[in-house]
Amino acid sequence: MRISLRPFVDPLPIPRVLQPLERCKDKTYYEVRMKEFFHQFHSQLPPTRVWGYEGQVPGPTIEVEEGECTQVLWINELPDKHFLPVDRTLHGSGHDMPEVRTVVHLHGASVEPESDGYPDAWYTNGFKKCGPRFSQKVYTYPNKQRPAMLWYHDHALGITRLNVYAGLAGLYIIRNEAERALNLPSGIYEIPLVIQDKSFNSDGSLFYPSTVDVQDPPPDFPDPSITPGFAGNTIIVNGKAWPYLEVEQRKYRFRVLNASNERFYRMKLDNGQPFIQIGSDGGLLQRPYTTDEIVIGPAERCDLVIDFSSQPAGTTITLLNTARTPFDFGAEPDPFTDGRIMQFRVIERTSEDTSTVPQFLSSIPRMDEFAATRTRDISFDVTTDRYNRFLFLLNNHDYMDGVTEDPVVGETEIWRLINPGLGVHPFHVHQIQFQVLDRIPFDTALYAQTGYIRYTGEPELPSPGERGWKDTIQAYPGYVTRLIMRFGPYTGRYVYHCHILEHEDHDMMRPFDVVARKCPPVRDECKK
Ligand code: C2O
Ligand code: CU
Ligand code: CU
Repeated sequence: MRISLRPFVDPLPIPRVLQPLERCKDKTYYEVRMKEFFHQFHSQLPPTRVWGYEGQVPGPTIEVEEGECTQVLWINELPDKHFLPVDRTLHGSGHDMPEVRTVVHLHGASVEPESDGYPDAWYTNGFKKCGPRFSQKVYTYPNKQRPAMLWYHDHALGITRLNVYAGLAGLYIIRNEAERALNLPSGIYEIPLVIQDKSFNSDGSLFYPSTVDVQDPPPDFPDPSITPGFAGNTIIVNGKAWPYLEVEQRKYRFRVLNASNERFYRMKLDNGQPFIQIGSDGGLLQRPYTTDEIVIGPAERCDLVIDFSSQPAGTTITLLNTARTPFDFGAEPDPFTDGRIMQFRVIERTSEDTSTVPQFLSSIPRMDEFAATRTRDISFDVTTDRYNRFLFLLNNHDYMDGVTEDPVVGETEIWRLINPGLGVHPFHVHQIQFQVLDRIPFDTALYAQTGYIRYTGEPELPSPGERGWKDTIQAYPGYVTRLIMRFGPYTGRYVYHCHILEHEDHDMMRPFDVVARKCPPVRDECKK
């Protein structure tokens, strides 16, 4: 069952940039089809059945300018049956839903609720007896936001983990003149890295445990009924297992996305060379930050420069994952954490490296804690469902419980993420980008007994790599992570959730409403 593949055999593919069908003055129009096809993840592995956008895993990259109004028609041409084990017991209403459903969310984007890819806004391939009778949706992305690398992925209620694992994810890059003027490494020296993990059966098919069929657990996987997530044993970058990339003796910009279901990566270069982190989820940082280790959780992005100019040609450098477990937490090393991500092979430079990494990248005005009108607490709660599987909740509510958060458009709020548990949860909020104030250790035993939060230490400032705009943040166990965010410009319903997809599906996700500002009460003297 567990197939072992040789690392560094296949070259790193670069997802192609999608061409719009139309690009005129006030609108750019794309069409993207979701299809089933076969994809070879490694040259020693038989082709694997996958689902992908435009027949590609990962999907093609969409590249737009800041402010370029873009529409995408997302067309579902997937089959009627899922090839991965759909668990109809996961949601109360799951029995009424067609097995194959999809909806596309642009992660990190500022969009109207109608175009956000709300989990309940799923649709089918159109041939279903139940569910909506249409097979496509057109979504509008105004791109009125800072340049950043976003990503689009499936967000269908209850099966996001399966649809993303099957291959439904791709990159979306917003650019502008100011960023180009910085003269960072660009063109063929700017390389996206979409990191995922998968497991394969020996016939090449994707392995994913069924959460219902616990009679017959595969021998080398933990009991799926007690697995609170799924981590694969093979690391995939841009659709290839442990690939290699030839790099010239010069600077490269790597735009890294962790598109894994639950796995965190503690990235390090095996020659001890540092990364220069220049950006995070919401675009460039204020200043570059040099570090030899970066932990990237599911859905997080980091924008890195690596300088290979002083490496002799012929050098090989491995990008390592030094996390001991999928969650990068816990004492027992996990046997399925391989330790490698990909390899760089240094070759001679073909031309002068004229790119730069300026000391000032972009301005990040700090949001003022005292401007917040409201503080909300979000707790991460773990319990079990009636099948004795882990059930993950936020504030002890499941997804189907009604809205409890209704921030006012334009107002600033502080959200305290209370994690009394044992694992890190990558917490994501739709519609907005936020900033991280700090993380404060608290007494989890007291909290478990009384619900009272007693801080036990000084607030810890976010790392320099977390001081830009973020849309996903690692909520550490034993800490209260404090975020500050301003809602708007749109009103309506969105979701916030844990981005471990197994948690999100069962049920660490909640709806919230951004509401219009209420008019101040009219005073009597004004009435005349
Ligand atoms: Cu990347 Cu609501 O998701
Ligand atoms: Cu999102
Ligand atoms: Cu979680």
